Amino acid sequence: MDEYVKKIHIDQLRPGMYIADLDCGWMSHPFWLTRFKVKEEAQISQLRDAGIVEFYIDTQKGIDVFDAQSVNEVNLSLDKEILNILAEKPSHAATADLGSELPRAKAILERAHETIHTVLLDAKLGRKLNLSPVRDAAMQLTESVCRNADALNILTRIKEKDSYIFHHSISVGVLLMLLQHDAGVSDDEVIDAGIGGMLHDIGKVYIDPNILNKPGKLTDLEFAEMRKHVGYGVSALKSYQELSYDVILPALEHHERYDGTGYPFQKKGDQISILGQKAAIIDVYDALTSERCYHKGMPPPMAIRKMFEWSKHHFNPQIVREFVRSIGIYPVGTLVSLESGKLAVVSEHNADDLTSPKVVAFFHASKKIHIQPHEIDLARHFGFGGGDRIIRPEDERSWGVDPQYYLQQWLGFI
Ligand code: C2E
Ligand code: SIN
Ligand code: SIN
Ligand code: FE
Repeated sequence: MDEYVKKIHIDQLRPGMYIADLDCGWMSHPFWLTRFKVKEEAQISQLRDAGIVEFYIDTQKGIDVFDAQSVNEVNLSLDKEILNILAEKPSHAATADLGSELPRAKAILERAHETIHTVLLDAKLGRKLNLSPVRDAAMQLTESVCRNADALNILTRIKEKDSYIFHHSISVGVLLMLLQHDAGVSDDEVIDAGIGGMLHDIGKVYIDPNILNKPGKLTDLEFAEMRKHVGYGVSALKSYQELSYDVILPALEHHERYDGTGYPFQKKGDQISILGQKAAIIDVYDALTSERCYHKGMPPPMAIRKMFEWSKHHFNPQIVREFVRSIGIYPVGTLVSLESGKLAVVSEHNADDLTSPKVVAFFHASKKIHIQPHEIDLARHFGFGGGDRIIRPEDERSWGVDPQYYLQQWLGFI
């Protein structure tokens, strides 16, 4: 079926074509539907005005563009580009093994969770914020990221959708620290990025809970309300003289887009700080991979591919490359299927080959039976603990298995 869905440029769009997926932030343009048949030229101008450059059409439901690439072809070439990026530079080396970092990271994360809970509650009640525990939390999280970033990466992926805002705040803080750490900035800058990341959405506490928690799509009016969280957040933080400006940048700029289609100021390109650009990328990645009140979570490899695709317009391509290199294409905890027919969870990176990690196999997909969990090092040959290959990432929802569970069990963590 995917061969009928093709990617085209706006210049190729004609009335009579059926749009299958607007390849863009669907909230920031005037169309609430992302699938519809184009009836007239005026609609095309509207799309153009909204800054939409490329999208997918369904050629079974509308006019075809013969020489356009199908979704499968697009995905294949995106994957190829991503693999090239991963081959460029080895990732950060860990100083602690995952098994020993997990319990430490868990304790740090629990404290950070309480801290953020208190700060968000204080903000909501209009109390003066006590930000020194947030700095302490950022310092400890930074240390854990430096020892072994995978530990927090795994733990922050386990989210409950009812308390999204806490989990999302912490994940964005952790990922922003990871990105800054890998960029080689000073420790102080890493910590500021962590504080700023954890507080980037603090303005959401002032948004009407009926809008914030609405299970469906927002109306134009509700979305206009929602966008105010940026300004609210910045005012809440600006009253703290002692905060460095870096701490405010993620809150201020995380909804700006590289091509000027973001909000609130429609900043463009270099007008957005590097930290703001990184915060935007991480915010979208974490929102896509999380179970939200309004959508299901996407497996990380698919979200990374989407981010990479969007980097052609909405995000700074250079920073998306850095992001892909930091997080890898198969983050630890990702469910994958192997050439041998086994289903496995990524358990550890090989720093010099990000496409061949260590995995723990626990299920035989074609025989549909559980197997004794065992680790396979995909960088090694058959007979040397390896000899298998990832054929694709899998969506854990369609398999009904929880890869995190098997991983944590393997690591002796539960
Ligand atoms: P955004 O589009 O500016 O949305 C900002 C916030 O408004 C979201 O933060 C969410 O709290 C709320 N919101 C947006 N749309 C809806 C909706 O239809 N229903 C409800 N109940 N709330 C909504 P969140 O979830 O943290 O997402 C951050 C950003 O990640 C979004 O900013 C958007 O840029 C991106 N994003 C999230 N999910 C998707 C997605 O499925 N597709 C695309 N293209 N972008 C997404
Ligand atoms: C957004 O920009 O709102 C999300 C992803 C995209 O750039 O299309
Ligand atoms: C939020 O958008 O941060 C709150 C909604 C939720 O908790 O799912
Ligand atoms: Fe936000």
